[in-house]
Amino acid sequence: MNGLVDFSQSSLWISAASILFNPTFWNIAATQEYRNKFITKTFGGNPRLGCYALAITIFSLGIFRDYLYNEALAAQPTHPTLLSPLIRYSAIPLFVTGNVLVLTSMWALGITGTYLGDYFGILMDAPVTSFPFNVSDAPMYHGSTLSFLATALWYGKPAGIFLTSLVAVAYSVARRWEDPFTSMIYERRDRERKEGKKGL
Ligand SMILES: *[C@@H]1O[C@H](CO)[C@@H](O)[C@H](O)[C@H]1NC(C)=O
Repeated sequence: MNGLVDFSQSSLWISAASILFNPTFWNIAATQEYRNKFITKTFGGNPRLGCYALAITIFSLGIFRDYLYNEALAAQPTHPTLLSPLIRYSAIPLFVTGNVLVLTSMWALGITGTYLGDYFGILMDAPVTSFPFNVSDAPMYHGSTLSFLATALWYGKPAGIFLTSLVAVAYSVARRWEDPFTSMIYERRDRERKEGKKGL
């Protein structure tokens, strides 16, 4: 990517750091909450309040990450090929699709479902299988990645494509950690339910 991406810009590395930091932060925070309930304890023993606080924190970190990404792109060279109308305007359906996936999955999951409520013991009765979960197994992550890509294409920045691939890697690493962890939480709940029934 020599010449396409200006690696000497510190804003590029700051943006990259925030992209890697966010999922790392929320996984460490949520895992710690699961193990020792430190967020719940901080919020007077109220897991729902703790989860809302984590939600606000994650949401704000996301806004800040998007801001740093835009700042980084502004300092980067554009590429004429990316500015061709076909590529540039493909950013619009990508951006719309990305946002539909993110917003509808938040709508389907609710706040505690979106923001790691299961680590707080706030479990869903059953996995959500309605839209957008019938078109993507991780609509929040896929939608967010699409929005990053759309922004890169709209501004014609190869550096944006570079940072978008970092987003994709960060999310795929996060899922490799989160998916088995949430399965474990739900399997444990189901096991305890069964044992509870036996005891009756
Ligand atoms: C997903 O569900 C929506 C309604 O919730 C439906 O309109 C759509 O056709 C479904 N898509 C697939 C691929 O099943």
